[in-house]
Amino acid sequence: MKARIAVLGGDGIGPEVAREAASVLRAVGARFGHDFAMDEALVGGAAIDATGSPLPPETLALCRGSDAVLFGAIGGPKWGPSSPVRPEQGLLALRKELGLFANLRPVTVNPGLIDASPLKPDLLKGVDLVVVRELTGGIYFGEKRRTATEAFDGCAYSAGEIERVVRVAGRLARGRRRHITSVDKANVLETSRLWREVTQRVVADEFPDCTLEHQLVDSCAMQLIRHPAAFDVIVTENMFGDILTDEASVLAGSIGLLPSASLGVGRLGLYEPIHGSAPDIAGKGIANPYGAIMSVAMLLRFSLGLEREATAVERAVGAALDAGLLTPDLGGTASTSEAGATVARAVREA
Ligand code: IPM
Ligand code: MG
Repeated sequence: MKARIAVLGGDGIGPEVAREAASVLRAVGARFGHDFAMDEALVGGAAIDATGSPLPPETLALCRGSDAVLFGAIGGPKWGPSSPVRPEQGLLALRKELGLFANLRPVTVNPGLIDASPLKPDLLKGVDLVVVRELTGGIYFGEKRRTATEAFDGCAYSAGEIERVVRVAGRLARGRRRHITSVDKANVLETSRLWREVTQRVVADEFPDCTLEHQLVDSCAMQLIRHPAAFDVIVTENMFGDILTDEASVLAGSIGLLPSASLGVGRLGLYEPIHGSAPDIAGKGIANPYGAIMSVAMLLRFSLGLEREATAVERAVGAALDAGLLTPDLGGTASTSEAGATVARAVREA
């Protein structure tokens, strides 16, 4: 297969982990006979410094013309909340422009890493959940206003926006344990009352073979720690999904392990680890590349339909973790490039 992949490293540790992910993708190409053309482009703070914009038109054009986008991370103290232009705007614009409304964030616990989590081992057995986060609506994209003494962020959802992301969750649940937890704040928010109504209808009409449970977001935050193994597919709005997935990453032992896929109507998707740019450890060569590499597995599966190749990458990461090739966030001493090279080698020999 021939495919074009846009590689946007971004800021901080972003380029370091994206480099390892790209090398694993090249290894997949070599091992399975695919022709992956990879082009790099600027995004985030790096793009602001070079062009003044966090998402230059050339970068957006490259992404539109690609089959998938491999993304590192963006942000840093140099472009803080008081900057007029911020790196985060680049990522948000990219998600919106590419129509990537569904963000899949799987969380599993590798048995060998149970001690890396601060939670009691008993709680972590059997954890296997995926959060489907709505990604192009809600308070992230509502009207914003600001005066010296007042600020306003609007939160809006349409039934159509809710329906399409619930369908993604339903299709995913069908390939899993068929249990959907919809998370909202329907006791307070109007958008959440619509969310609950629409979710109820879509699941009843289109996914009657799945069970649906509604949880309030505050209670869900608690249940994620009290009984995480009870969750299968969680579907929720943009901001709740952002918060709950950072929380859920603690189950896996490190946020550095978690991948994500952002999907729209076509095959084009954006794949990124859920961690940030970690400026404190940038340039030290110690960032955990496994979340970025696992994002490559999702890219192969969802944008290119290459299931066998996706599994080969996941197995190679599992083997590296089992062999104790751990970066410092997991209590080990492996470097970013050692971890990446080991996975790439295992894929080439798979
Ligand atoms: C994430 C990040 C982003 C978000 C930031 C960088 C804008 O936290 O992908 O979870 O809030 O969506
Ligand atoms: Mg986040």
